[in-house]
Amino acid sequence: MRHFLTLKDYTKEEILEILQLAHKIKKETKKGVFKDYMPKNTLGMIFEKSSTRTRVSFEVGIYQLGGVGLFLSSNDIQLGRGEPMSDTSRVVSSMVDMVMIRTFAQSKIEEFAKYSKVPVINGLTTEYHPVQLMADYMTIQEAGLDENLVVAYIGDGNNLAHSWLMLASKLGFELRIATPKGYEVDENILNDALEFAKESGAKISIGNDPKEACKDATVITTDTWVSMGQEEEKEQRLKDFDGYIVDDAMMNIGASNAKFLHCLPAYRGYEVSEDVIEGQDSLVFEEAENRLHAQKGVMVWLHNLRKKEQ
Ligand code: CP
Ligand code: NVA
Repeated sequence: MRHFLTLKDYTKEEILEILQLAHKIKKETKKGVFKDYMPKNTLGMIFEKSSTRTRVSFEVGIYQLGGVGLFLSSNDIQLGRGEPMSDTSRVVSSMVDMVMIRTFAQSKIEEFAKYSKVPVINGLTTEYHPVQLMADYMTIQEAGLDENLVVAYIGDGNNLAHSWLMLASKLGFELRIATPKGYEVDENILNDALEFAKESGAKISIGNDPKEACKDATVITTDTWVSMGQEEEKEQRLKDFDGYIVDDAMMNIGASNAKFLHCLPAYRGYEVSEDVIEGQDSLVFEEAENRLHAQKGVMVWLHNLRKKEQ
Protein backbone atom coordinates (compact mmCIF):
# COMPACT_ATOMS: atom_id res chain seq x y z
CA MET A 1 0.00 0.00 0.00
CA ARG A 2 1.35 3.42 -0.96
CA HIS A 3 1.51 6.37 1.43
CA PHE A 4 2.48 9.98 0.64
CA LEU A 5 5.13 10.68 3.28
CA THR A 6 7.88 12.27 1.18
CA LEU A 7 8.53 12.88 -2.52
CA LYS A 8 11.56 10.66 -2.08
CA ASP A 9 9.21 7.69 -2.55
CA TYR A 10 7.77 9.01 -5.82
CA THR A 11 9.02 8.91 -9.41
CA LYS A 12 8.93 11.88 -11.78
CA GLU A 13 6.17 10.15 -13.75
CA GLU A 14 4.04 9.64 -10.64
CA ILE A 15 4.48 13.25 -9.46
CA LEU A 16 3.45 14.55 -12.91
CA GLU A 17 0.53 12.11 -13.08
CA ILE A 18 -0.81 13.33 -9.71
CA LEU A 19 -0.43 16.94 -10.86
CA GLN A 20 -2.27 16.20 -14.11
CA LEU A 21 -5.14 14.80 -12.07
CA ALA A 22 -5.05 17.86 -9.81
CA HIS A 23 -5.28 20.24 -12.81
CA LYS A 24 -8.21 18.22 -14.20
CA ILE A 25 -10.12 18.26 -10.89
CA LYS A 26 -9.34 21.97 -10.44
CA LYS A 27 -10.89 22.74 -13.85
CA GLU A 28 -14.01 20.78 -12.92
CA THR A 29 -14.22 22.51 -9.53
CA LYS A 30 -13.92 25.94 -11.16
CA LYS A 31 -16.88 25.04 -13.40
CA GLY A 32 -18.86 24.03 -10.32
CA VAL A 33 -18.64 20.34 -11.18
CA PHE A 34 -18.03 18.22 -8.09
CA LYS A 35 -17.60 14.55 -8.95
CA ASP A 36 -17.75 11.91 -6.23
CA TYR A 37 -14.21 10.61 -6.73
CA MET A 38 -14.22 9.33 -3.13
CA PRO A 39 -17.86 8.68 -2.20
CA LYS A 40 -18.56 8.33 1.53
CA ASN A 41 -14.81 8.24 2.23
CA THR A 42 -13.53 9.51 5.57
CA LEU A 43 -10.24 11.34 6.02
CA GLY A 44 -8.80 11.41 9.55
CA MET A 45 -6.76 14.62 9.96
CA ILE A 46 -4.37 14.45 12.91
CA PHE A 47 -2.72 17.74 13.88
CA GLU A 48 0.06 18.01 16.45
CA LYS A 49 0.87 21.55 15.24
CA SER A 50 -1.18 24.61 14.22
CA SER A 51 -2.49 25.04 10.68
CA THR A 52 -4.68 27.25 8.53
CA ARG A 53 -4.06 26.14 4.92
CA THR A 54 -3.49 22.44 5.49
CA ARG A 55 -6.54 22.03 7.66
CA VAL A 56 -8.91 24.02 5.43
CA SER A 57 -7.66 22.51 2.17
CA PHE A 58 -7.86 18.89 3.32
CA GLU A 59 -11.24 19.29 5.00
CA VAL A 60 -12.80 21.16 2.07
CA GLY A 61 -10.99 18.89 -0.41
CA ILE A 62 -12.33 15.58 0.92
CA TYR A 63 -15.85 17.06 1.18
CA GLN A 64 -15.76 18.20 -2.45
CA LEU A 65 -14.65 14.69 -3.46
CA GLY A 66 -17.74 13.18 -1.86
CA GLY A 67 -16.32 12.34 1.56
CA VAL A 68 -15.87 13.89 4.95
CA GLY A 69 -12.90 14.99 7.07
CA LEU A 70 -12.45 14.53 10.81
CA PHE A 71 -10.30 17.17 12.49
CA LEU A 72 -8.32 15.44 15.25
CA SER A 73 -6.17 17.86 17.22
CA SER A 74 -3.62 16.35 19.58
CA ASN A 75 -5.01 18.78 22.16
CA ASP A 76 -8.21 16.75 22.14
CA ILE A 77 -7.30 13.15 21.29
CA GLN A 78 -5.44 10.69 23.52
CA LEU A 79 -2.29 10.98 21.38
CA GLY A 80 -1.66 14.28 23.11
CA ARG A 81 -1.83 12.51 26.49
CA GLY A 82 0.76 9.93 25.54
CA GLU A 83 -1.15 7.19 23.66
CA PRO A 84 1.43 5.62 21.31
CA MET A 85 1.38 6.40 17.57
CA SER A 86 1.17 2.65 16.89
CA ASP A 87 -2.06 2.30 18.91
CA THR A 88 -3.54 5.51 17.51
CA SER A 89 -2.76 4.28 14.01
CA ARG A 90 -4.37 0.86 14.45
CA VAL A 91 -7.50 2.40 15.96
CA VAL A 92 -7.98 5.39 13.63
CA SER A 93 -7.10 3.45 10.47
CA SER A 94 -9.62 0.73 11.33
CA MET A 95 -12.39 3.33 11.00
CA VAL A 96 -11.34 5.82 8.30
CA ASP A 97 -10.32 5.42 4.64
CA MET A 98 -7.31 7.74 4.60
CA VAL A 99 -5.24 9.66 7.15
CA MET A 100 -3.40 12.97 6.99
CA ILE A 101 -0.94 13.81 9.76
CA ARG A 102 0.92 16.97 10.75
CA THR A 103 3.52 16.14 13.36
CA PHE A 104 7.11 16.62 14.51
CA ALA A 105 9.73 14.01 13.50
CA GLN A 106 9.31 12.15 10.20
CA SER A 107 9.89 8.95 12.20
CA LYS A 108 6.52 9.54 13.93
CA ILE A 109 4.61 9.56 10.66
CA GLU A 110 6.59 6.54 9.49
CA GLU A 111 5.60 4.75 12.70
CA PHE A 112 1.95 5.63 12.06
CA ALA A 113 2.17 4.43 8.44
CA LYS A 114 3.78 1.16 9.52
CA TYR A 115 0.70 0.25 11.55
CA SER A 116 -1.91 1.86 9.30
CA LYS A 117 -4.47 -0.12 7.33
CA VAL A 118 -5.08 2.88 5.03
CA PRO A 119 -2.92 5.36 3.07
CA VAL A 120 -1.24 8.08 5.14
CA ILE A 121 -0.45 11.59 3.83
CA ASN A 122 2.21 13.86 5.32
CA GLY A 123 0.70 17.27 6.13
CA LEU A 124 4.10 18.55 7.39
CA THR A 125 6.82 17.13 9.59
CA THR A 126 10.01 18.70 10.86
CA GLU A 127 11.81 17.17 7.86
CA TYR A 128 9.34 17.46 4.96
CA HIS A 129 6.22 19.18 3.61
CA PRO A 130 5.52 17.24 0.38
CA VAL A 131 1.92 18.34 -0.25
CA GLN A 132 3.05 21.97 -0.16
CA LEU A 133 5.52 21.27 -2.96
CA MET A 134 2.80 19.69 -5.09
CA ALA A 135 0.84 22.95 -4.83
CA ASP A 136 4.00 24.96 -5.51
CA TYR A 137 4.79 23.06 -8.68
CA MET A 138 1.16 23.26 -9.80
CA THR A 139 1.45 27.05 -9.47
CA ILE A 140 4.72 27.03 -11.41
CA GLN A 141 3.08 25.03 -14.21
CA GLU A 142 0.12 27.43 -14.34
CA ALA A 143 2.48 30.40 -14.58
CA GLY A 144 4.26 28.68 -17.49
CA LEU A 145 7.53 28.65 -15.57
CA ASP A 146 8.17 24.92 -15.66
CA GLU A 147 10.33 25.17 -18.82
CA ASN A 148 13.95 26.10 -17.99
CA LEU A 149 12.98 26.45 -14.35
CA VAL A 150 15.61 27.83 -11.97
CA VAL A 151 14.47 28.00 -8.34
CA ALA A 152 16.33 29.97 -5.67
CA TYR A 153 15.38 29.02 -2.11
CA ILE A 154 16.61 31.62 0.38
CA GLY A 155 16.57 31.06 4.14
CA ASP A 156 16.36 28.16 6.55
CA GLY A 157 17.50 24.66 5.57
CA ASN A 158 14.21 23.27 6.90
CA ASN A 159 11.29 21.05 5.83
CA LEU A 160 10.56 23.35 2.87
CA ALA A 161 14.17 23.37 1.68
CA HIS A 162 14.27 19.57 1.99
CA SER A 163 11.07 19.20 0.00
CA TRP A 164 12.41 21.49 -2.73
CA LEU A 165 15.49 19.24 -2.85
CA MET A 166 13.28 16.21 -3.40
CA LEU A 167 11.09 17.89 -6.03
CA ALA A 168 14.00 19.33 -8.03
CA SER A 169 16.03 16.15 -7.93
CA LYS A 170 13.06 14.04 -9.04
CA LEU A 171 11.79 16.38 -11.77
CA GLY A 172 15.22 17.51 -12.97
CA PHE A 173 15.17 21.31 -12.64
CA GLU A 174 17.82 23.66 -11.26
CA LEU A 175 17.66 24.46 -7.53
CA ARG A 176 19.96 26.79 -5.64
CA ILE A 177 19.68 26.93 -1.86
CA ALA A 178 21.25 29.74 0.16
CA THR A 179 21.12 29.48 3.96
CA PRO A 180 23.07 31.24 6.69
CA LYS A 181 26.01 29.26 8.08
CA GLY A 182 24.77 26.77 10.66
CA TYR A 183 21.31 26.50 9.07
CA GLU A 184 22.24 24.26 6.14
CA VAL A 185 20.00 21.45 4.88
CA ASP A 186 20.26 17.96 6.34
CA GLU A 187 23.26 16.17 4.86
CA ASN A 188 21.49 12.82 4.35
CA ILE A 189 18.59 14.45 2.53
CA LEU A 190 21.04 16.42 0.37
CA ASN A 191 22.92 13.24 -0.49
CA ASP A 192 19.66 11.52 -1.48
CA ALA A 193 18.82 14.50 -3.71
CA LEU A 194 22.27 14.45 -5.33
CA GLU A 195 21.81 10.77 -6.04
CA PHE A 196 18.38 11.33 -7.69
CA ALA A 197 19.82 14.29 -9.59
CA LYS A 198 22.28 11.98 -11.36
CA GLU A 199 19.30 10.31 -13.03
CA SER A 200 17.06 13.35 -13.58
CA GLY A 201 19.79 15.78 -14.62
CA ALA A 202 18.81 18.29 -11.91
CA LYS A 203 21.44 20.91 -11.11
CA ILE A 204 21.59 21.46 -7.36
CA SER A 205 23.78 23.96 -5.57
CA ILE A 206 24.07 24.79 -1.91
CA GLY A 207 25.68 27.89 -0.46
CA ASN A 208 25.50 30.85 1.87
CA ASP A 209 25.16 33.69 -0.63
CA PRO A 210 21.52 34.62 -1.38
CA LYS A 211 22.45 37.09 -4.13
CA GLU A 212 24.46 34.46 -5.95
CA ALA A 213 21.57 32.00 -5.66
CA CYS A 214 19.02 34.49 -7.04
CA LYS A 215 21.03 35.37 -10.16
CA ASP A 216 18.67 34.87 -13.13
CA ALA A 217 16.40 32.59 -11.08
CA THR A 218 12.88 32.31 -12.48
CA VAL A 219 11.32 31.45 -9.12
CA ILE A 220 12.51 32.92 -5.83
CA THR A 221 11.12 31.41 -2.67
CA THR A 222 11.62 31.48 1.07
CA ASP A 223 10.00 30.33 4.32
CA THR A 224 9.73 31.50 7.90
CA TRP A 225 13.01 31.75 9.80
CA VAL A 226 11.34 30.26 12.88
CA SER A 227 9.45 27.04 12.21
CA MET A 228 6.89 25.52 14.53
CA GLY A 229 8.69 24.04 17.51
CA GLN A 230 11.62 26.51 17.25
CA GLU A 231 9.98 29.40 19.09
CA GLU A 232 12.67 29.45 21.79
CA GLU A 233 15.38 30.03 19.17
CA LYS A 234 13.59 33.05 17.71
CA GLU A 235 15.85 35.80 19.05
CA GLN A 236 19.05 34.08 17.88
CA ARG A 237 17.59 33.15 14.52
CA LEU A 238 16.47 36.69 13.72
CA LYS A 239 20.09 37.79 14.22
CA ASP A 240 21.57 34.92 12.22
CA PHE A 241 19.24 35.42 9.23
CA ASP A 242 20.11 39.09 8.82
CA GLY A 243 20.64 39.78 5.08
CA TYR A 244 18.43 36.90 3.95
CA ILE A 245 15.24 38.89 3.40
CA VAL A 246 13.70 38.54 -0.05
CA ASP A 247 13.08 42.17 -0.94
CA ASP A 248 12.88 44.11 -4.21
CA ALA A 249 16.68 44.24 -4.47
CA MET A 250 16.84 40.45 -4.22
CA MET A 251 13.97 39.95 -6.71
CA ASN A 252 15.74 42.28 -9.17
CA ILE A 253 18.74 39.94 -9.23
CA GLY A 254 16.42 37.22 -10.53
CA ALA A 255 15.32 36.82 -14.13
CA SER A 256 13.12 39.59 -15.54
CA ASN A 257 10.07 37.29 -15.34
CA ALA A 258 10.94 35.95 -11.85
CA LYS A 259 8.01 35.10 -9.57
CA PHE A 260 7.88 34.88 -5.80
CA LEU A 261 6.51 31.89 -3.88
CA HIS A 262 6.02 31.39 -0.13
CA CYS A 263 4.14 28.54 1.55
CA LEU A 264 2.71 30.96 4.14
CA PRO A 265 2.30 31.99 6.91
CA ALA A 266 4.72 34.82 6.03
CA TYR A 267 6.39 37.22 8.43
CA ARG A 268 6.71 40.53 6.62
CA GLY A 269 9.90 42.43 7.32
CA TYR A 270 11.73 39.21 8.20
CA GLU A 271 12.05 36.59 5.43
CA VAL A 272 10.11 38.72 2.90
CA SER A 273 9.38 42.40 2.46
CA GLU A 274 5.85 43.77 2.29
CA ASP A 275 6.57 45.07 -1.25
CA VAL A 276 7.54 41.65 -2.57
CA ILE A 277 4.74 39.61 -1.03
CA GLU A 278 2.13 42.18 -2.09
CA GLY A 279 3.83 42.95 -5.41
CA GLN A 280 2.85 41.94 -8.95
CA ASP A 281 5.39 39.11 -9.08
CA SER A 282 4.01 37.39 -6.00
CA LEU A 283 2.00 34.20 -6.59
CA VAL A 284 1.54 33.35 -2.91
CA PHE A 285 -2.26 33.39 -2.85
CA GLU A 286 -2.57 31.35 -6.06
CA GLU A 287 -0.10 28.96 -4.42
CA ALA A 288 -2.17 28.79 -1.22
CA GLU A 289 -5.38 28.05 -3.17
CA ASN A 290 -3.57 25.33 -5.07
CA ARG A 291 -3.13 23.45 -1.80
CA LEU A 292 -6.79 22.51 -2.16
CA HIS A 293 -6.47 21.33 -5.76
CA ALA A 294 -3.09 19.61 -5.47
CA GLN A 295 -4.16 17.64 -2.40
CA LYS A 296 -7.35 16.52 -4.11
CA GLY A 297 -5.03 15.10 -6.76
CA VAL A 298 -2.98 13.29 -4.12
CA MET A 299 -6.04 11.88 -2.35
CA VAL A 300 -7.77 10.69 -5.53
CA TRP A 301 -4.55 9.16 -6.87
CA LEU A 302 -3.98 7.18 -3.65
CA HIS A 303 -7.65 6.19 -3.52
CA ASN A 304 -7.66 4.93 -7.13
CA LEU A 305 -4.48 2.96 -6.58
CA ARG A 306 -5.91 1.31 -3.48
CA LYS A 307 -9.09 0.36 -5.28
CA LYS A 308 -7.01 -1.30 -8.01
CA GLU A 309 -4.95 -3.19 -5.40
CA GLN A 310 -7.99 -4.48 -3.49
N1 CP B 1 1.72 26.29 4.28
C1 CP B 1 1.07 25.65 5.26
O1 CP B 1 1.21 24.44 5.44
O2 CP B 1 0.24 26.43 6.01
P1 CP B 1 -0.49 26.03 7.35
O3 CP B 1 0.56 25.88 8.42
O4 CP B 1 -1.43 27.16 7.64
O5 CP B 1 -1.23 24.73 7.16
N1 NVA C 1 8.76 25.63 8.01
C1 NVA C 1 7.46 25.97 8.54
C2 NVA C 1 6.39 25.76 7.53
C3 NVA C 1 5.01 26.17 7.95
C4 NVA C 1 3.96 25.85 6.93
C5 NVA C 1 7.20 25.15 9.80
O1 NVA C 1 7.55 23.96 9.83
O2 NVA C 1 6.68 25.71 10.76
